[in-house]
Amino acid sequence: MKPGYQKYIPFQPQKIIGRTWPDHVITKAPIWCSVDLRDGNQALIDPMNLEEKLEYFHTLVDIGVKEIEIGFPSASETEYEICRELIEGGHIPEDVTIQVLVQAREHLIKKTFEAIRGAKNVILHFYNSTSTLQRKVVFHMETDGITKIATDAADLIYEMSQPLIAEGMNLRFEYSPESFMGTEMDYAVEICQAVLEHLHATPEQKVILNLPTTVENCMPNQFADMLEYFCKKLPSRDCAIISLHPHNDRGCGVATAEMGLLAGADRVEATLFGNGERTGNVDIVTLAMNMWTQGINPELDFSHINDIREMYERCTKMPVGDRQPYAGKLVFTAFSGSHQDAINKGSQYMKQSGTEYWEIPYLPIDPADVGREYEPIIRINSQSGKGGAAYIMEHNFGYDLPKSMHPEFGAVVQKETDAVGKEIDPARILELFQQEYIEAKTPYQLIKHFFDESTDQNGHSHVTFRGTLRHTDTVFEVAGEGNGPIDAFFNAIKDEKMSHFTFLDYKSHAITDGSDSQGVAYILLQDQRDGKKYWGVGLSHNINLAPLRAILSAINRSKRKPS
Ligand code: KIV
Ligand code: ZN
Repeated sequence: MKPGYQKYIPFQPQKIIGRTWPDHVITKAPIWCSVDLRDGNQALIDPMNLEEKLEYFHTLVDIGVKEIEIGFPSASETEYEICRELIEGGHIPEDVTIQVLVQAREHLIKKTFEAIRGAKNVILHFYNSTSTLQRKVVFHMETDGITKIATDAADLIYEMSQPLIAEGMNLRFEYSPESFMGTEMDYAVEICQAVLEHLHATPEQKVILNLPTTVENCMPNQFADMLEYFCKKLPSRDCAIISLHPHNDRGCGVATAEMGLLAGADRVEATLFGNGERTGNVDIVTLAMNMWTQGINPELDFSHINDIREMYERCTKMPVGDRQPYAGKLVFTAFSGSHQDAINKGSQYMKQSGTEYWEIPYLPIDPADVGREYEPIIRINSQSGKGGAAYIMEHNFGYDLPKSMHPEFGAVVQKETDAVGKEIDPARILELFQQEYIEAKTPYQLIKHFFDESTDQNGHSHVTFRGTLRHTDTVFEVAGEGNGPIDAFFNAIKDEKMSHFTFLDYKSHAITDGSDSQGVAYILLQDQRDGKKYWGVGLSHNINLAPLRAILSAINRSKRKPS
């Protein structure tokens, strides 16, 4: 055997003249079929028990899946019992079709017919393997023998189905040339056409031809070429529903399904979060939500993705990855500062412009569309920028910090994240904000204050401030006048060794915590001696008091020794 990569046989692309699929776009949802309870279940270390399968089934129904492959009833007693319970226990809604899988073998087909007794809507899905490799190494058969397996099974299924159909069962057929992706396309057409004929398919009674990528072996565009070729060559294309069943061995299952739809497929078999053999089946959540983000209604409801993920993880005992599209724990977070800033600006833009579209960079989808929280989008760690902490302060706690304050507070947070070496949560950010600004109460503290306000005949207001201040252990009185409370206070403290501070900027707003509303004031002072600037923040239920506290907070911060 050749060493390493040289031992692999490269995929031989299907030659196709005048391909059209690259010019197509997806405009509507395909027919969805869940294969979670069969393909997904058979790939579990501990297959689901009856209760788990029932719960899973009901979740799929709630999501809106109308065709659900429930298992392989001829494969084991457990699978048979589950099928019977679903039918006899009245679990299947009127508009939902159950699908059962069976190999193209007589005794298994007969057992499967027993299993579906009493069901209203059924798809009987049979398969045999058609690929060159399987024919060579597994079956040791020429194509005629392989075709005979399929057509004999089709004859038996057709014959056995007639009494059930006469009794009123809505019984349809599905055939899978298993390992379609490794089959010569002309032979795939030949065997599928033969099956359509043996099942008496018509444009009114279409048969589902499911063309599986049993093992993904080529690029999605090459698969799309094969599919377009197949659809064009199939004589009874109008009697078939073309279905895809991508597995994910090369990690391209989603692209294969999407390009397969461009190339003419009508239906997709998939599983939640891509559970299934080896690397899994294609993920139905990603496919559906990809459509959603292109303005197409996928006709599946993933608006409570956390609940679906919780059910999935519990029943399958398989974890959903933190970066799984749409569902992973980390997919609505932004660690990088520039991403955080852009998200912040995007959400401000959306508010201010009133746009009806989702226009936020780095968030391809509104997290609320899948029932996810908007708040934890930004996580603060040492890679976060200056805007991230301010964003948390605004969105989590209602503090709308002045823009020019963002770098200063950002640096406070950065120092902490550098020190702890990991992400910090919003509660810790609030704590840092309080320690840094609100609790900057030494050396100066306002103990008592009194305002006297008057307006003269020209409408100018005059305010007199009198108050008691503490400087470490010394208590003293101050008084000053001005055209407003801030001006009066500032003038009062000027003489108390604070004359070197000048007033640069001011902002205030209300913050509401439940029914309790407080005013918050942000004040920027500059120390004339060295030009350094300090923000201060004051909180109070009294709108006149918050700015005075903010002034003292700025002065007190200026007195802190740099650490
Ligand atoms: O992957 C596959 O080919 C299958 C078939 C049985 C449809 O699961
Ligand atoms: Zn499969």
